[in-house]
Amino acid sequence: MPKPKIYVTRRIFDTALDRLREATDMKLWDSDLPPSREVLLREVREIDGLYSLLTERIDAELFDAAPNLKVVSNMAVGFDNIDLAEATRRGIPVGNTPRVLTETTADFAFALLMAAGRRVAEGDRYTRGGKWKTWGPMTLLGQDIHGSTLGIIGLGRIGQEMAKRARGFDMKVTYYDIVRNEEAEKDHDIQFFPDLKGLLSQADFVTIHVNLSDQTRHLINADTLAAMKPTATIVNTSRGPVVDQKALYQALKNGTIAAAGLDVTEVEPISMDDPLLTLDNVILAPHIASGSVSTRTKMSLMAVDNLLAGLNGEQPPDCPNPEALQVRSQKG
Ligand code: GLV
Repeated sequence: MPKPKIYVTRRIFDTALDRLREATDMKLWDSDLPPSREVLLREVREIDGLYSLLTERIDAELFDAAPNLKVVSNMAVGFDNIDLAEATRRGIPVGNTPRVLTETTADFAFALLMAAGRRVAEGDRYTRGGKWKTWGPMTLLGQDIHGSTLGIIGLGRIGQEMAKRARGFDMKVTYYDIVRNEEAEKDHDIQFFPDLKGLLSQADFVTIHVNLSDQTRHLINADTLAAMKPTATIVNTSRGPVVDQKALYQALKNGTIAAAGLDVTEVEPISMDDPLLTLDNVILAPHIASGSVSTRTKMSLMAVDNLLAGLNGEQPPDCPNPEALQVRSQKG
């Protein structure tokens, strides 16, 4: 029997590629940059499986171009780049990579929180820029992490890991979520706020851990930013569009809030003429929160498992649309 045809949209770890090469007829986009839309639509024409990253838009147009497609395996926990309803309607299961990146992502979110609150990146620029003339009693003063209050938006797996880290710094931990989690409140000694503005008004550090959806797009906007303390720092390692970036720029510029640490932006990569880049009180990272060698290796192998299961007609072990297989079997 011929091996199933697959397309991999970026160079990934050899351990993952070797497994794919053995089990499939693989074509690899062997580059550090994503394929263009035109190339992607051409390359999917005959494939049975697609190994994608969060940079690829997987939608009806792509499904139309790939009539044999049986599975999409996204090497990411988030899948907002995929039209899930459309995949389900067409009986195509989608795979994602939750859990393995939880702690790594929380580590990085905490690093951004500390770096923005204590002005680490600004200090580096100051030093390299030759501005360090003496020990200054008022130089680059920031906000204490210890003893302050953390406000977590979205108490999922990563949000809970943030709570654990914050407890180690003697922070008071508070959260807002559409679903209350009383068990986690007890486990981590966290206080629930039923309304977002209530949470924002008392937190010294705010960290965002929600999925991107119609409900969360621009959850942080001019109105919600106005509820925050002028000394507060906001951190976003979720998805860029959860924050209205123009409103954030104004808030950082006008002193509505003190600082921000962003791993994600509304458009990625951020445009080099984006006004945020003119501000010293924002740290910008290139979407690397899950980027440790160990975690990215695990994610790439999990995505292989998901892809191979889907090619076998099985449910990928991590699959946000398991109904797709039912749809497929009804289609016959
Ligand atoms: C990264 O942002 C992911 O969704 O895995």
